[in-house]
Amino acid sequence: MSPKDMKLYHPATFERGFPHEYFAYLRREAPVHWQAPAAAGEPNFDITKGFWVISKYEDLVYVSKNPKLFSSWRGLAFLWEMEEEMLHLQRLSLLNLDPPEHVRYRGLVNRAFTPRMVKMLEPRICQHAKRVVDAVAKKGSCDFVTELAAELPLILICELVGIPDEDRRKIFTWSNAMIGHTDPEYGDDPAIPTQAAMELYLYAGELAQQKLANPDDTLISKLLHGEVEGVKLTTDEFNQFMVLLSVAGNETTRNATSQGMRLLDANPEQFELLKSDLDRYLPGAIEEIVRCAPPVMQFRRTATQDTQIRGVDIRENDKVVVYYPSANRDEDVFTNPDVFDIRRSPNNHVSFGIGEHFCLGANLARMQLTCIFREIFSRLPDIHVVQQPRLLYSSFIDGIKEMRVEFTPER
Ligand code: HEM
Repeated sequence: MSPKDMKLYHPATFERGFPHEYFAYLRREAPVHWQAPAAAGEPNFDITKGFWVISKYEDLVYVSKNPKLFSSWRGLAFLWEMEEEMLHLQRLSLLNLDPPEHVRYRGLVNRAFTPRMVKMLEPRICQHAKRVVDAVAKKGSCDFVTELAAELPLILICELVGIPDEDRRKIFTWSNAMIGHTDPEYGDDPAIPTQAAMELYLYAGELAQQKLANPDDTLISKLLHGEVEGVKLTTDEFNQFMVLLSVAGNETTRNATSQGMRLLDANPEQFELLKSDLDRYLPGAIEEIVRCAPPVMQFRRTATQDTQIRGVDIRENDKVVVYYPSANRDEDVFTNPDVFDIRRSPNNHVSFGIGEHFCLGANLARMQLTCIFREIFSRLPDIHVVQQPRLLYSSFIDGIKEMRVEFTPER
């Protein structure tokens, strides 16, 4: 295997899951590796420039914690290139800001996602998880992804931002279109993700108008009326935040849930151990699931000046892309990194990112995973996968689209 064999911009490279063997090779032989762009005439999925591939844990941390050198704003946090108009709009999003703007914005939204706030939501999250399982428990079989994994994050995000029940499907469709845009199943028209983002953006604007006129205690309303050091979010910033939450809060937790089922099914002795004492082993199992199969495979930064990583020259404006699944299996940090071990300790994975942009929803995601797994595994203990999972065609999200499961129906 040699670096030129792989095309990391191409979703086909991830068709059978993350290519761990290739990344083990990169960590060993070329930890700062130049991925050449697609040749003229070949499909490039809007990734028109080459990029640096960062595969080692230490380097991912270095890049993520140095926003002055590696900017999220200059070329956004996404690997693909965008039209000027989209670039301009996207730069208002929290995900794509650098300090000091990022610090102000994050300070405002952090308040809604503290561990204390999430703890307060626990009874509601668990109540929703119970209803999700109620809907399938008597059936004896279902599609794990759409019927069990997708529902809870969707309900929760809509509830947090105050989206009415009847509009929930719209959010599901828009976020699929934006995240899964390289998958022909979600439409292979390159205009689809932009169109979905614009529709969601306009929808957010209308919702904001309603909440401005009639304040309530939803997150959305608090953000619109809230102030930090006398500064408020502008309407555009607010709309971008809605778009970010709808996408970041949906696909990620959904896929972590599905990947968890897949990993436990593939490791029956670990599954048995988990079920032998859910309270004891579930927290560790959740960390190990997101370490082994991070739903987000990469994010991008852009170098703000000529610099070096591990002695390799990086030029100003070069794209630098960090790969979370690879860092999580770095042999220098994790013992037996390819082994799925729910008792792993310590488990300092980087699946939620690190540094300035550390995942805002990490506490919420952990809480959702706890509630849904507890509900599923205590009520449907013999649940098992009966069909090869169908994977999302993407170089960005390690997603599962469909995975049939069977279980003894609940009486
Ligand atoms: C298992 C679930 C999740 C995973 C693996 C995940 C992963 C990530 C990662 C890797 C980042 C870092 C981005 C970067 O460095 O550029 C991030 C940021 C972010 N995540 Fe998550 N996420 C998850 C769930 C959620 C949820 C449930 C929400 C919202 C409710 C959320 C909202 C966000 C936001 C708003 C950011 C941007 C933070 C910033 O730029 O300051 N995420 N997430």
